[in-house]
Amino acid sequence: MSSPAPDSPSSSSEDARRHAAASLAAGDPTGWFETLYAASRAGQAVVPWDVAEPSARLRALGLPDGAGLRALIVGCGPGRDAEYVASRGYATTAFDISATAIDLARERHPDSPVTYVVADLLDPPVAWRHGFDLVLESNNVQALPSAIRAAAVPAISGFVAPGGTLIVLAAATTRIDSDGSGPPWPLTRDEIDAFAVGGLRQVSVEQVNAAGTALPARWQPVYRR
Ligand SMILES: C[S@@+](CC[C@H](N)C(=O)[O-])C[C@H]1O[C@@H](n2cnc3c(N)ncnc32)[C@H](O)[C@@H]1O
Repeated sequence: MSSPAPDSPSSSSEDARRHAAASLAAGDPTGWFETLYAASRAGQAVVPWDVAEPSARLRALGLPDGAGLRALIVGCGPGRDAEYVASRGYATTAFDISATAIDLARERHPDSPVTYVVADLLDPPVAWRHGFDLVLESNNVQALPSAIRAAAVPAISGFVAPGGTLIVLAAATTRIDSDGSGPPWPLTRDEIDAFAVGGLRQVSVEQVNAAGTALPARWQPVYRR
């Protein structure tokens, strides 16, 4: 596996784009995640975001002690951020639509306290609604085509419990944006603002520069219910 910068796709995004294009052409906007992870496991593709280190932006935020609090990691992949959040003391649930990604997470972290679950953000367990004190959405919505983003954003907001926090880490659109041939498809300010629904309010909207990464303009807004 190559070691791209941990917060954004590397120049090795070609495999992801190839799998995404085939999946989208077949009318299945999320099927490519499983085919990409499976091909990677077979040594036939590179998953550009699959790096060992937790997100540098997440670490820079300095999460408070999570003892007694519940966290949900959306689109956790093989678990890099879930393991970090659990290490901060949160009772952590992490889910992904890809069964292979969840298998990899369990295999790589055999003694993990994290509960890894195969689940679809667009059809999540009912019990997760308003169920978590901390929700992390990192780099997932930007990998979804516009046709399903409008449903994905409020689904994520709906996981936050009363008094809870949502952290979003995402690439930001810029004037010199990519050629549009994602994934990823960076988020606009309107898309960032759209997380503030159903009683969730935006408490900060920081845009940071992740120098040295493929998509250096980054959003890192925080929301509370
Ligand atoms: C670009 S990757 C980011 C992975 C991880 N958040 C990270 O930053 O390393 C997007 C992840 O979201 C997952 N995903 C995509 N659509 C999903 C859905 N509808 N429900 C749950 N997970 C999904 C993919 O399988 C993939 O692991």
